[in-house]
Amino acid sequence: MRYGFGYFEEDKLGQVADIGLWRRIIAYSRPHWGKVSGAVILSMIVIGSSLALPYMIRLGIDHYVVNTALESSARINGLGWLASLFVAVVIAGFAANFYQVFILEWTGQTIMHQMRQQLFDHMLGLDLAFFNENPSGKLVTRLTNDIQNMHEMFTSVIVTLFNDFFQLAGIMAILFWMNWRLALILSFLLPVIIVGVSWFSRLARETFRDIRTRLARINAFLQESLSGIAVIQLFLREKDTHAKFVELSREYLDKNLFQIRIFGIFMPSMELFNALAVGCIIWYGGGEVIRKNLSLGELVAFISYIRLFFQPVRELSQKYSIVQSAMASAERIFQLLDMRSSLFSPEKNEKQADFRGEVVFQNVQFSYKEGQPVLHNLSFRIPPGGTLAIVGATGSGKSTIVNLLERFYDPASGAIRIDGRDIRSCNINQLRRQIGLVMQDIFIVPGSIRDNILLDLVMDDTRLHNIIEQAQLSGMIGRLPDGLKTMIGEGNMDLSAGQKQLLAFARVLARNPRILILDEATSSVDSETEMLIDRAIETTLANRTSIVIAHRLSTIKRADHILVMEQGAIAEEGSHDELMARGGIYRRLQDLQVNGQERNEGE
Ligand SMILES: Nc1ncnc2c1ncn2[C@@H]1O[C@H](COP(=O)(O)OP(=O)(O)OP(=O)(O)O)[C@@H](O)[C@H]1O
Ligand SMILES: [Mg+2]
Repeated sequence: MRYGFGYFEEDKLGQVADIGLWRRIIAYSRPHWGKVSGAVILSMIVIGSSLALPYMIRLGIDHYVVNTALESSARINGLGWLASLFVAVVIAGFAANFYQVFILEWTGQTIMHQMRQQLFDHMLGLDLAFFNENPSGKLVTRLTNDIQNMHEMFTSVIVTLFNDFFQLAGIMAILFWMNWRLALILSFLLPVIIVGVSWFSRLARETFRDIRTRLARINAFLQESLSGIAVIQLFLREKDTHAKFVELSREYLDKNLFQIRIFGIFMPSMELFNALAVGCIIWYGGGEVIRKNLSLGELVAFISYIRLFFQPVRELSQKYSIVQSAMASAERIFQLLDMRSSLFSPEKNEKQADFRGEVVFQNVQFSYKEGQPVLHNLSFRIPPGGTLAIVGATGSGKSTIVNLLERFYDPASGAIRIDGRDIRSCNINQLRRQIGLVMQDIFIVPGSIRDNILLDLVMDDTRLHNIIEQAQLSGMIGRLPDGLKTMIGEGNMDLSAGQKQLLAFARVLARNPRILILDEATSSVDSETEMLIDRAIETTLANRTSIVIAHRLSTIKRADHILVMEQGAIAEEGSHDELMARGGIYRRLQDLQVNGQERNEGE
């Protein structure tokens, strides 16, 4: 496989300790380092305030509540001051927390915005071979889910992880400083907690991954079904499709319920540990108070610190999974960003002259998939201004010739030259600007008819009307109440196949390219539209080098030279009269067509 991208599944977990990956992730936050360090400082204030509160309670109890050495009024007064300070510290912590969250969210969103843009911009430049190998559903996931995962990591993990560690370390330090024996008891509980937490986080991680794969499956299935809805309805597949969806949705539901159960067990069991720790402290610590080794204030503070201790423990276990899935997302995103188009395109050359329009294919070989050649040693030449018609059975490689000339792909060997210059040495955009293409299926952008003809061109009305006239569109547009302003595409009026063809001719005429490729649609149109298309073809082909992949005799006859393709090679070539005289494949094809027409007319 050329890209090695397909093996990436949604269920892959990232390496948390991948230094190279971290470096790239951090590079994105570098422009915001001022804000990030601000957030770190704010987080110090948040931690400081939350650690100060139990200590203030201790001071209040020991110095004022139980301190009989002081006068009552002084004790009450002191408590008043301490309570005010307490409130002030809470408010400071709250404010710091608010700004910290705000800064982090802002930074995270900004970074994601930038990444999303970079990723999309990058994807727009990749070649068609890449898109053939990567279904669009997967790429949409890259731009949505994966970016979202990274966002979560930036905001809820990077700095808060730091918070959690500092809070844990701070609490341990204070506890040992206040009473090391009591702190030691707590330390015995620690291994049990660590084992419990790591068991839980592994289970949670696996479930989380299962949920994600199930969701990805649902998304892929939905996309398939919705884009193929006409086929589903036409072949009465609604019941089966629904049953399949129910199955997928049921799996997703089951996994989600499982996750809820795990969390349902984990959260209360953390509470249980917490209560156990508090129980130990009351039993042993209470004794210490009675033995006068510990003050009452210290005991109360201890209990508060234990409460604080369990909060980061709970969060750490969840954050580890966030980091893991974010690392996997980061890996996928960077892999996509590192993907280079296999088509080399030289820098834009300002001085590139307009083509005269000589097109040469020289021993061109090509395959979409290795081992399945589509074009074999194909050679032909079209002089400037000449018209070449290509005919042949379906799948014989006609559209492939177009794809190569437009440089959607490069040939495996051989060369394609325009005016003697290998097209691989031309800037792709400059090349495509000079090669107009009317494709088999015409893409309509949601917008007015005018927008659809001009796309991004600017043009005065007289020229535009001229072009509409030449493309034989004036009759149709004249019949519409809103004329050129009529909205078409997505949810608006739909054009018929014939009208779309005419619109495509108008598009090409507006661009006036030196070289024109016409991949004629096989669908038959009524005889009036047929006549309009015929005239549009005539005006569009005039004065340019043209390649027409033709099905209708009238178009074929107009060509100077005809190639008859068979399984990726030229079977016959010559003018219409020469080929008819030869009595080969071409003759047979034409006879069939003429017979078919006569039969149709006879009916
Ligand atoms: N994107 C692709 N990936 C793999 N194989 C492809 C791709 N596009 C076309 N092919 C294969 O290449 C061969 C030639 O296809 P091509 O589209 O050039 O035929 P065609 O002559 O234009 O047929 P039609 O008259 O039906 O338009 C076919 O066998 C087709 O299956
Ligand atoms: Mg084709």
